[in-house]
Amino acid sequence: MTILSEQYKTIASIYDELNADAIDQLSVNLISFMEELKFTPSTVLDLGCGSGRLLRNLQTTIPYCAGCDLSPEMISEARKLSPRINKIECSSMLDLKPDRCFELIICTNDAINYLKPIEWNVLFEKIKQWLHPGGYFYFDFTTNLDIRTVWPHYRDYLEGNGWFCCKINEYDIDQKAGIERQVWFVKQGKDYVRFEEQHTLYGPTLHEIEIFSKNAGLFIKHIIDPISFRKADPENLLRVGMFITTA
Ligand SMILES: C[S@@+](CC[C@H](N)C(=O)[O-])C[C@H]1O[C@@H](n2cnc3c(N)ncnc32)[C@H](O)[C@@H]1O
Repeated sequence: MTILSEQYKTIASIYDELNADAIDQLSVNLISFMEELKFTPSTVLDLGCGSGRLLRNLQTTIPYCAGCDLSPEMISEARKLSPRINKIECSSMLDLKPDRCFELIICTNDAINYLKPIEWNVLFEKIKQWLHPGGYFYFDFTTNLDIRTVWPHYRDYLEGNGWFCCKINEYDIDQKAGIERQVWFVKQGKDYVRFEEQHTLYGPTLHEIEIFSKNAGLFIKHIIDPISFRKADPENLLRVGMFITTA
């Protein structure tokens, strides 16, 4: 039997285990990059916070931490694993109505790629309202180049204790989007149950992102490789990290 599952429903309970090293490295890099900028935020909002691991790590240096995620399963993991985070909401980042401004807003590990290009525009307008003047919005994303050229050939196989998963990616030329089909087999009792999830990711061009920023009254301050956090030429990267700030 195959169960068609909501995005992130199947992976939520193992997301932390699978991504712990990458998220911990991202926390270290983000904190040291902000130190270089002499930027010491006291509030952070994580859009698409997943299981909350990044927020948990940032709590060591940022006193007020809040996050939201669309997936109820990811939010329940975040609440379980991160009871000390100040506020965690189950909401789309586009529907969020924060009751305060933030000095730092983050959206990491390609969470922003789930938004359609028109929604990036909407999000950037909201970021302008939610961001403290002089604050930063840091996000990373899979580029248009990656989704168009690498995705159609990408296949992956993962396995762990009581589960295995195949990923098959393609490029949908009509939607201009990358489609990732995940086929999961999860042990329940003596049998394996098959789950399928489909993830659709959009990769706007750098030119489009410049326009979204400009329309919202924001501007791009730093462009980096999101793994090394070194400054980089975005034209050649498959994933990009950007620090955007108020004018
Ligand atoms: C790859 S995970 C990244 C999680 C976390 N940011 C990290 O760095 O590990 C992408 C997350 O984005 C969330 N997401 C997708 N669309 C969203 C939306 N419109 N609003 C809020 N969260 C969303 C998913 O539920 C998922 O938890």
